[in-house]
Amino acid sequence: ADTCFLFSGLIGRSWAMVFAAGGFKVKLYDIAQQQLTSALENIRKQMKELEESGFLKGALSAEQQFALISICTDLKAAVEGATFIQECTPENLELKKKIFSQLDLIVGDDVILSSSTSCLLPSKLFTGLKHVKQCIVSHPVNPPYFVPLVEIVPHRETDPSTIERTYALMKKIGQSPVKLNREIEGFVLNRLQYAVISEAWRLVDEGVISPTDLDLVMSDGLGMRYAFIGPLETMHLNAEDLIVLNFLFQAMSEKIPVVPKVLDARRKWRDECLTGLAKLKKQMKSD
Ligand code: NAI
Repeated sequence: ADTCFLFSGLIGRSWAMVFAAGGFKVKLYDIAQQQLTSALENIRKQMKELEESGFLKGALSAEQQFALISICTDLKAAVEGATFIQECTPENLELKKKIFSQLDLIVGDDVILSSSTSCLLPSKLFTGLKHVKQCIVSHPVNPPYFVPLVEIVPHRETDPSTIERTYALMKKIGQSPVKLNREIEGFVLNRLQYAVISEAWRLVDEGVISPTDLDLVMSDGLGMRYAFIGPLETMHLNAEDLIVLNFLFQAMSEKIPVVPKVLDARRKWRDECLTGLAKLKKQMKSD
């Protein structure tokens, strides 16, 4: 099996479980032995619980998946045989740059060097590295085991094959990758999130709505829809007579042709999803 190597920590652990579920060998690396020992304990416990509740991913048993994970405190040994490296150190530019320049000295020409960073741009992380063509950001959403989105963000010198291989790998382990064609502050997820937060803030600040009600608009309204369909498809399904940008319309129509039968079927599917979600929300209600 291919080997992936990661850094332990909150995100690293979750990645490790995702890769192991996909049948990959995983090496966990960290500077602190104690961190690795507790990461292993924690992963074993989580896998067992997931198996018992029927939520363990992948075809292998918890025990088989756990057996794929090993630990390592020596960077050189960790890199040995790895085809994909997912860096998950704390969000600190200087630290990450140091790690990538260390890796740059010891990796071969085939391995992919990928960072979990939430907001550091590839141009800041990878510029000047000898292996920059093999570098990429794969930004997960916490916890990646349950939230599948991964934003793939290349450096301008990243080789197209690095992007394609990373995309294919993410698909293979059951994540939901999206490709950004170039880097941008906040990537896409956080840009959308900031847009929503800033409008939310404005509406509350201008006294249009109370903070509690504002949040309800999202959790009991828009957010429920967005759990299944994005804003562009929402537009597509809602408005036959809205004039949308032509290229958007074309892209959406490829996925969902504007034929009454097809549109109605998709709307029916959406409503079924919402019914299922409504039941789940009732069951999960905390107050
Ligand atoms: P964390 O603090 O839980 O884990 C960081 C790990 O790095 C620890 O195990 C620590 O011992 C280790 N470490 C520190 N210095 C090191 C070094 N020099 N060499 C090797 N290992 C070292 O952090 P967390 O939350 O897992 O975040 C990791 C990365 O994932 C960050 O870049 C963060 O932005 C990103 N991320 C985090 C999300 C979150 O919700 N926590 C979501 C998406 C991305």
